[in-house]
Amino acid sequence: MAFSTITDLDAGAAQRHSHALLQRILTTASISYATGPTGMGDGERVLVLGGTGYIGRALVPELARRGYRPAVLARSPEVESEAEYAGAEVIVGDATRAADVRSAVDVAPTAVVISLLSGRRPNDAEDCRLVDHEAVVNGIKAAVAHEVRQFIHVSDFGAYRPELIPQVYKLQVEGELIGQHHGHVPWTIVRPTAYFPYLSVAFGDVKNGGRYRIYDHGEWNVVNPIAREDLAEFIVNQVLADDAIGRVLPVGGPWTADNAVTLRGAGEMMFDINGRTPDWEVITMASWDKKIARLRRLGRVSRQLKPVVFYLEAAKYWSVVDHVAPAYGTRTLRGFMEKLKDRDFPTGSYRERMRKGTNVMPTDI
Ligand SMILES: NC(=O)c1ccc[n+]([C@@H]2O[C@H](COP(=O)([O-])OP(=O)(O)OC[C@H]3O[C@@H](n4cnc5c(N)ncnc54)[C@H](OP(=O)(O)O)[C@@H]3O)[C@@H](O)[C@H]2O)c1
Repeated sequence: MAFSTITDLDAGAAQRHSHALLQRILTTASISYATGPTGMGDGERVLVLGGTGYIGRALVPELARRGYRPAVLARSPEVESEAEYAGAEVIVGDATRAADVRSAVDVAPTAVVISLLSGRRPNDAEDCRLVDHEAVVNGIKAAVAHEVRQFIHVSDFGAYRPELIPQVYKLQVEGELIGQHHGHVPWTIVRPTAYFPYLSVAFGDVKNGGRYRIYDHGEWNVVNPIAREDLAEFIVNQVLADDAIGRVLPVGGPWTADNAVTLRGAGEMMFDINGRTPDWEVITMASWDKKIARLRRLGRVSRQLKPVVFYLEAAKYWSVVDHVAPAYGTRTLRGFMEKLKDRDFPTGSYRERMRKGTNVMPTDI
């Protein structure tokens, strides 16, 4: 049977659905969460696994500001001298090694463990298994053995419709936590939508005079991304909060026109901020599907093609599947892009820059 990873949809129906969904959220107040910090710590130790990545760099200082004692398990000792970790205890170790995680939990009384672990190579199935599953399970087991009061798993909104390997592992970890597969530990699961840098990856190309790629009309889906500072505040609100225990919490950013967008809408923002008229590179979804199918067939004989297939499937997934979650925070995608306006970006095509290893993702803000 021939199948596509993502259910085939009619382009026109998808666009009508996106318009209706956008209209609904832009005219409704999201009432699931009240924005603002709730609860202060009293010096409780909170160990963050995966705390050296994009979200960790906002979460660790937020924990310190809110009266907790953050500890970070870091692969590199250099992390200790970085400003974000000034108020944190840095333990050098690797979360993929169970003994490192155990000793990071056991070295001092630990109230909470938070996992932000995520493989750096999402197209590498073995790396995903090691990090997105095994390393997080190391954290759960250590938390169970140490009787920590709460384990917070930062999962992914994609777990509602897991079609890419990292999402499948995120969901697997959720199931193991919920099923108390590794022993009893009070848990909270957070499912954030996309982060701003991922929706701004083409900003440099647009600024440099390039076109912005869309599939068909570019309105297959809607997303309300969330700022890392707002997500950090949201996560800290859940720390040792009774009503967060045993809950799965989907969360995204504000339901406003400068934050809730289709991918075409994100492109329009980029052109507008750069003072340009939109200039689209239109690819039909049908041709993209054919490309995926062809490379998948070839991937059966050439293992080297598998990671390439992942990127094509991921590009489709993020362009087709809605990521709309209850709103939290005040920061917007447009506000994020405004901060990119005066930057210089490397030239060359996306593919050339990937080959050279030039970072195209603005993850420093
Ligand atoms: N990206 C999105 O739009 C998105 C959306 C929703 C949810 N999420 C989820 O949100 C969470 C935080 O995301 P993020 O953007 O902060 O992730 P990130 O920047 O990729 O950070 C990943 C963390 O995992 C660690 N790590 C990666 N590979 C490792 C390995 N082999 N051994 C040990 N540690 C390893 C990294 O350590 P090093 O710094 O040493 O590499 C880093 O601390 C993740 O669970 C992610 O899946 C992401």
